[in-house]
Amino acid sequence: MPENPPELLQQAVSVLAMNDQGNYTQPAHHLYPHQWLWDSCFIAIGLRHLDLERAKTEVLSLRRGQWHNGMLPNIIFRDDREYRTDRNMWRSWLNPYAPSNITTTGITQPPMLAEATVRIGEGLSPPERRLWYGMMYPTLVDYHQWMYNERDPHQEGLVLQIHPWETGLDNTPPWIAELHDHLMPLWIRLIEKWRLDWLINLFRRDTKSIPMDQRFSAIESLAMFSIQLRLRRKAFDIDRILDHALFSIEDLNFNCILIRANTQLREIAKLLHADLPPGLEKRMKQTEKALESLWDPETAQYYSRDFITHRLLKTPSVATLLPLYAGTISKERAAHLVNLIENKHHFGALFPVPSVPVDSDWFHPKLYWQGPTWVNINWLIIDGLKRYGFDEQAEKLKKKTIEVVKKSGFYEYFDPLTGEPAGANHFSWTAALAIDLLNQ
Ligand code: GLC
Repeated sequence: MPENPPELLQQAVSVLAMNDQGNYTQPAHHLYPHQWLWDSCFIAIGLRHLDLERAKTEVLSLRRGQWHNGMLPNIIFRDDREYRTDRNMWRSWLNPYAPSNITTTGITQPPMLAEATVRIGEGLSPPERRLWYGMMYPTLVDYHQWMYNERDPHQEGLVLQIHPWETGLDNTPPWIAELHDHLMPLWIRLIEKWRLDWLINLFRRDTKSIPMDQRFSAIESLAMFSIQLRLRRKAFDIDRILDHALFSIEDLNFNCILIRANTQLREIAKLLHADLPPGLEKRMKQTEKALESLWDPETAQYYSRDFITHRLLKTPSVATLLPLYAGTISKERAAHLVNLIENKHHFGALFPVPSVPVDSDWFHPKLYWQGPTWVNINWLIIDGLKRYGFDEQAEKLKKKTIEVVKKSGFYEYFDPLTGEPAGANHFSWTAALAIDLLNQ
């Protein structure tokens, strides 16, 4: 690619090398030292162009965190003494299904593992691919079954999430709006009222290296912590959690990624001549159908939904575009989403795609998942656009994504209006997915 100097590729390679921990890659030095689930999947998608064996290791290392009930946790903690507090905050050992030799969280993250498995598989010879799929198949089947068993208890097709971190889009407006409206404990409301957030900020690790106005607020972080405590009190036992289901959402981003992951899982099973466990195929089909119940004809957008009441959470966010990645909506719907991407009042910013449409009251160009452009979301959208045959739009978005990285560096996220960098520098998935886009 002549207009992209080889230096960009070289720089991306050195970001990954810098964050390489041997069997996994940390998302960013200092800020994110552990292994994150969907990060490792995105990272493997880039690593496969450099070293297929290392990409496999990245993905295989996620298996050490898998719970005996099939759950893959969003974080596998390092065991250094330095990170005792992180491990203690979660105490995964409270749940009998947690692995005994390693500490993890008690929640998951969007299921990107099937995608990473297939992408690595693409680079292998047919016999090697079969071997590789054979290694990953049990992990994937257990994980997908866990999602349906535990997270779709009414068998309605959509899987629910119990913590904002499970969506991967931590402080995305639909979830934060719900938190503010329904779930802010009194002690947090008082801290907010008495403006004591400065006190909380003194103890934060993230804002030591990142400007405060680029991270979630102290109140949001306390709210997330309070949900975490609640889950921990119930030892991450889903029956006990749902018994008093105060906060469970069928998240749009998560379910779209699940639909795509199911398609990939089918492909893997087919190549292995394996039959998916009885009932799983039916549940997978149900999810595709259920996605349509997240469409709101009035505003012509997709939304996440409250698990109990089935109320759509009509606060706009980039998740509305993710059905493109799911790949099961009609071509007309897809074309409508493409219009939203191109519309200057919605997602058509100079450096797209903003995580919140620019005309939303929630839009803040540098604030984490409340406005900035993220490379992983662009990657998902580009992939969806291509599968729907919107090649020109996919190419344009790819160029814009590479441009912003070239202009500003391998940052965690970018201001969609100016392209300025924000969040952590030397961020692994930005580097890995840039490598993948440069190789497409
Ligand atoms: C942030 C992101 C999350 C990611 C993690 C590690 O928490 O919101 O999606 O997995 O960082 O990079």
